[in-house]
Amino acid sequence: MTEPLRTVGLDLPLVKEGKVREVYALGDDLLLVATDRLSAFDVVLDEPIPHKGIVLTQLSLWWFERTSDIVANHVITADPEAIIERHPPLAESRSRWEGRSILCRKTDPFPIECVVRGYITGSAWKEYRVSGTLAGEPLPRGLVEAQRLEPPIFSPATKATEGHDENITFERVRATVGVAVANTLRDMSIALYQRAHDIAAEGGVILADTKYEFGVGSEGEILLIDEVLTPDSSRFWLTDQYEPGHSQQSFDKQPVRDYLDLMVAKGEWDRMPPPPTMPPEVVDNTSKRYLKAYELITGEPLLQ
Ligand SMILES: Nc1ncnc2c1ncn2[C@@H]1O[C@H](COP(=O)(O)OP(=O)(O)OP(=O)(O)O)[C@@H](O)[C@H]1O
Ligand SMILES: [Mg+2]
Repeated sequence: MTEPLRTVGLDLPLVKEGKVREVYALGDDLLLVATDRLSAFDVVLDEPIPHKGIVLTQLSLWWFERTSDIVANHVITADPEAIIERHPPLAESRSRWEGRSILCRKTDPFPIECVVRGYITGSAWKEYRVSGTLAGEPLPRGLVEAQRLEPPIFSPATKATEGHDENITFERVRATVGVAVANTLRDMSIALYQRAHDIAAEGGVILADTKYEFGVGSEGEILLIDEVLTPDSSRFWLTDQYEPGHSQQSFDKQPVRDYLDLMVAKGEWDRMPPPPTMPPEVVDNTSKRYLKAYELITGEPLLQ
């Protein structure tokens, strides 16, 4: 078992550090490393969640394999031996990064979060309640929270460098990347959602919504990049607990959210960083849920 890590900290040039992942340059390619950090309500917990980074990485790889006929992706390899061959000094730190890292082709990312929603919740539900629209397009009247949207809807957002991503209209995507590319990104995103929704359903999991990123590779081709169809980029609900008409429990982060809500209710946390210390049982329970999400979706436990 690998040790839970809040920071992986490899001896490679760090290109970017996000809330959850560290991105390193490895020659002309990128090494994408998922730490065990968890972010909820816009704060990153102090406690790493055991196995979370491995779940994110292995689940992304699992989905990349099952969607490569729809769109090519950035994966070169996640095999530790192959990664070490590329950069022998990584042998020493292997236990810190193996399983949680993917060697990827570096692309020029489109500045758009390609969100697809098959159920109306979160910011989409907020927009609908206020204006009856989603991504600026009118929706039927009388929808209830968490109701299924058929067909699923492409609801793009900007990639904000600071703060929240902002939902934008498809027209704005067209103005940003051109009509042909915008149409391609939309069509690929919806096809990916439909494929993943059907696969997840077999495991008793609803893929409520998800976010993809795409980039342009060195040959000018469009590639699916970043993480795909993980609990951090998607909302997963349990089919047998699904009940439209109100917001649904987050399958993976709910113990953390409940605890943070409790601390706010008790007046012990003001929703600003730093977050409160998590009790060990909340950390443990959350870790189990990430592992369970992997198992339900793929049909195999991650840890043997
Ligand atoms: N193949 C790729 N080529 C270029 N950039 C990539 C590729 N794959 C992923 N990225 C970029 O790497 C970054 C991954 O970092 P991460 O997800 O941790 O940060 P973030 O999404 O910017 O911020 P946060 O997740 O903290 O909100 C993203 O900016 C993503 O666009
Ligand atoms: Mg990200």
